[in-house]
Amino acid sequence: MKNIILLGATGSIGTQVLDIIEQNPNEYTLKAFSFGHNIKRAKEIIEKFKPELVCSPFKEIDEINDIQTTNDLKDVVWYGSNEYYVVNALVGICGLIPTIETIKSRKVLLLANKESLVMAGELVNSLKKEYDGVIVPIDSEHSALYQLIIKNQNIKELYITASGGALRDFSREQLKSVNVNDALNHPNWKMGSKITIDSATMMNKAFEIIEAHYLFDFPIEKIHAVIDRKSKIHAFLELEDGVVYHMAENDMHLPIKYALEYPNSIDFNLSNELTTLEQLKENFKLEKLSSDRFPLIKAAEYVLNNKHFSGVIVTTANDILVDKFLKQEISFLDIEEKLFEIMNKYQNSFKDLELNIENILKVQEIIRKEIR
Ligand SMILES: NC(=O)c1ccc[n+]([C@@H]2O[C@H](COP(=O)([O-])OP(=O)(O)OC[C@H]3O[C@@H](n4cnc5c(N)ncnc54)[C@H](OP(=O)(O)O)[C@@H]3O)[C@@H](O)[C@H]2O)c1
Repeated sequence: MKNIILLGATGSIGTQVLDIIEQNPNEYTLKAFSFGHNIKRAKEIIEKFKPELVCSPFKEIDEINDIQTTNDLKDVVWYGSNEYYVVNALVGICGLIPTIETIKSRKVLLLANKESLVMAGELVNSLKKEYDGVIVPIDSEHSALYQLIIKNQNIKELYITASGGALRDFSREQLKSVNVNDALNHPNWKMGSKITIDSATMMNKAFEIIEAHYLFDFPIEKIHAVIDRKSKIHAFLELEDGVVYHMAENDMHLPIKYALEYPNSIDFNLSNELTTLEQLKENFKLEKLSSDRFPLIKAAEYVLNNKHFSGVIVTTANDILVDKFLKQEISFLDIEEKLFEIMNKYQNSFKDLELNIENILKVQEIIRKEIR
């Protein structure tokens, strides 16, 4: 029986993790979970799964009685012994500290929150080394890469695919007047609103390139993103003698189940045959990802070439700007315009600052103030 601590239980990934726990009661038990503001859903989860500890940093937690509660996400991670698996399904920059505390507490980390690695991949990886940590990705492209990398040798290049998001057929001119509903209308996936907007701006793919760099220790020059409009494949590897790929199903339950199985593996959708890059591009109608049409893809280079606090600058600014767009306070194109402004302004600002949690929080505050 695996004991699961689920952070972000009320979200899109969190809900799918709960589906799997419910369907496999002899394999998994929900020991503790966290939520944000969705108290109605939190009460339903308590009723159904009867966990021992519940956390929310917000005032909604006061409405929960007869069960142990906490306001601090760290408490949930520290809860229990090291036989616990922590699923980090939080969205945005609030996921970082739980990622770090999970590694320090020597629990297995099943990671959906890509922002933790984008923000502080260097720090996370050095702690992972120090504490002998395990990170299993839940993000579908990275789950696919993870499975492909385990099975193959002599890997030359990594590729992930992008659908192009809800606005892929809009010209730059048309983007000037899109609204929130247009941007949330993803053609292939139903996900939380922040990642859906990140898909439309292509920031999500920039994040995924950075995530792949930190998870698999590949240089940015060897990690590529291409457009697969139908989301038929998630990822592929170029080997010395051909290409192997991972077919996609538009269902996050599969990568989540794969991660929950750790250390066992239940490979799915791996291609057995070797093909060529040209054949693969032809068969799946893969298209080049244009940085003229999707300028935010360049955020990957910015973060990986500058390292240090550059991931903190980008993720913090992006979190706030996407939130402002969702609240209709700024336009869609304001997101990228303001982001580039902040990236340029702060590129060399924090060079002398030591990279640690305290300073990450300080830099976040500076960026937050700047945008406000
Ligand atoms: N959705 C997908 O299919 C998908 C696929 C691949 C990767 N991911 C990644 O997985 C992560 C989660 O995405 P999602 O789509 O599941 O997001 P989501 O639906 O927006 O859910 C986010 C969860 O985090 C909680 N939360 C938000 N802010 C919080 C805060 N400050 N403190 C505590 N809890 C907070 C929310 O609580 P309340 O709702 O109660 O406020 C909710 O439970 C993201 O990093 C995303 O990029 C998602």
